[in-house]
Amino acid sequence: MNIDVFLTQFQAKGLETCFHDRHINPQIYAGLNGVNWSLKDYEARGGYQALRKVLGIGSGTPMTQDEVIAVVKESGLRGRGGAGFPTGLKWSFMPRQFPGQKYLVCNSDEGEPGTCKDRDILQHNPHIVIEGMAIAAYAMSISVGYNYIHGEIFQTYERFEAAMDEARAAGYLGDRILGSDFNFQLHAAHGFGAYICGEETGLLESLEGKKGQPRFKPPFPASFGLYGKPTTINNTETFAAVPWIIRNGGQAYLECGKPNNGGTKIFSISGDVERPGNYEIPMGTPFAKLLELAGGVRGGRALKAVIPGGSSSPVIPAELMMSLTMDYDSIAKEGGSMLGSGAVIVMDDTRCMVKSLQRLSYFYQHESCGQCTPCREGTGWLWRMVDRIENGQGRPRDLDMLDSVAGNIMGRTICALGDAAAMPVRGMLKHFRHEFEHHITHKTCMVGAYV
Ligand SMILES: Cc1cc2nc3c(=O)[nH]c(=O)nc-3n(C[C@H](O)[C@H](O)[C@H](O)COP(=O)(O)O)c2cc1C
Ligand code: SF4
Repeated sequence: MNIDVFLTQFQAKGLETCFHDRHINPQIYAGLNGVNWSLKDYEARGGYQALRKVLGIGSGTPMTQDEVIAVVKESGLRGRGGAGFPTGLKWSFMPRQFPGQKYLVCNSDEGEPGTCKDRDILQHNPHIVIEGMAIAAYAMSISVGYNYIHGEIFQTYERFEAAMDEARAAGYLGDRILGSDFNFQLHAAHGFGAYICGEETGLLESLEGKKGQPRFKPPFPASFGLYGKPTTINNTETFAAVPWIIRNGGQAYLECGKPNNGGTKIFSISGDVERPGNYEIPMGTPFAKLLELAGGVRGGRALKAVIPGGSSSPVIPAELMMSLTMDYDSIAKEGGSMLGSGAVIVMDDTRCMVKSLQRLSYFYQHESCGQCTPCREGTGWLWRMVDRIENGQGRPRDLDMLDSVAGNIMGRTICALGDAAAMPVRGMLKHFRHEFEHHITHKTCMVGAYV
């Protein structure tokens, strides 16, 4: 089925993705309607003006690489892939004088359960990513880039290829871009759906045609990346934020959000809400407002808990969540969790936390690449223990053992998938231990999820 027809049907059912008027001051999703993805539409929205500004087209005064990086630093943009690392700082790590090939990589793997924002950007606004990547490449003196796109969204990969063809034909990609001395060749690659290929060094291995197993770090990609060359990797949404920043200035972007948390952020809200979908709102917006935009808890039920930043972020109980704002600092410092990729999973009072954790733990043991023992063995242990508690075969000592196994995984693995598997376990035990105890003692569930 044609993707546009499919999306129209999707919307007709009331299941919206990003085509609604409930964003707040959107920058990336502004004006999208599902069919206006092409170059002429993007240019009509002011597209490629930022690249022109950087290259000095029209003004005759190109920005220096240092100036571009300084604006991105000033903006307070933090990586949207999960860790929230400051983007301008990351760009400054690239050894620009390195004499050999350097690479720029866009991480569009988007495998974190609950996250569905990058595919909307690529499908409906692909040129914003191309423009952001071209600016990043200019700033870091890079001439070759790749966009690694999740394997299960092949139509999106084809859309991105079509957009790159348009950009090449118009002189926005390739040699001597817009008549300048700047060359940037961009290519797309697709994975095959493994979550671990979203981890940046697993992604690089996969891009090189090998099994997508993460590399030990250091060395970090800035010095030893794709094919062993200096490489900068950013998330799709991170690159998509860049054109607005260059056009409007770093300070303006920072002021859209809150200090240390600049700009807007796309939140993929799912679970027990009336209107699941992607919502672009300023950083620092209260969670209560986001919930309201999403139509509130489904059926008017009570909010029980929220997983605020994708499945690896520890769960936050309702009362605490309702007091938080949606930004890296509030969710981490006050909520004890992580903003992560911005996938907000809402749970109402019918949700059993044991059942929920059983599902999450299954995912992580399934996706472990198996390289390191604590993750390979530990994720299986976690899942088997939660599974037996859920099935009425839990033992009183299981809860301490769950905590101990989680603790033995954390910080002892090659990549952060181990931590990602352990953190939800610890979060659930911290806030909802009584539900696990009830399952063990009474062999039944204390909430009405199954009635
Ligand atoms: C198991 C695992 C999966 C990840 N998956 C993704 C992903 O799908 N997309 C992404 O951008 N970052 C993902 N990351 C984070 C990347 O390793 C990397 O930090 C990110 O792409 C950097 O981009 P940013 O600085 O723009 O956030 C993942 C990390 C881990 C440990
Ligand atoms: S932590 Fe897990 S997924 Fe990451 S490298 Fe080790 S075994 Fe592989």
